[in-house]
Amino acid sequence: MPLTPQQLAQLMEAAQKATETAYAPFSNFHVGAAILTHDGQLFTGCNVENSSFGLTNCAERTAIFSAVAAGALSAQHDLVAVAVVHREGAICSPCGACRQVIFEFGPAAVVIYRAHSGEIAQTLARDLLPEGFRLR
Ligand code: THU
Repeated sequence: MPLTPQQLAQLMEAAQKATETAYAPFSNFHVGAAILTHDGQLFTGCNVENSSFGLTNCAERTAIFSAVAAGALSAQHDLVAVAVVHREGAICSPCGACRQVIFEFGPAAVVIYRAHSGEIAQTLARDLLPEGFRLR
């Protein structure tokens, strides 16, 4: 289902706010994410880098994992929307790992991000990750 303008604005604002706590001393690329769950709850996350670079967690996964830990995401269609923003508005589309994690809880979720064109895109998770992996 398409998001209302109010939902979109709320997600973008929350994602922007989440950039403020990003821990990104290595890339200096501060990212925030906000997600909306099926029961109307909003969770946020930021990227968390590590001296061992490969351990970095993206903002989208931080938000999703927080929601799972809070008991708000457990089934295939629980995730309604994900917004991701860079602190200064740079192009920032979800990485492949995040696409797979988004797909787990919401193949029909709307993903909002600044696309390579420079426009803010709203794309369904299943279109960002065709044939996403699924065990169940
Ligand atoms: N990053 C995110 O948090 N989300 C994205 O959608 C793309 C990349 C982070 C990971 C890393 O901390 C930094 O941005 C640079 O890759």
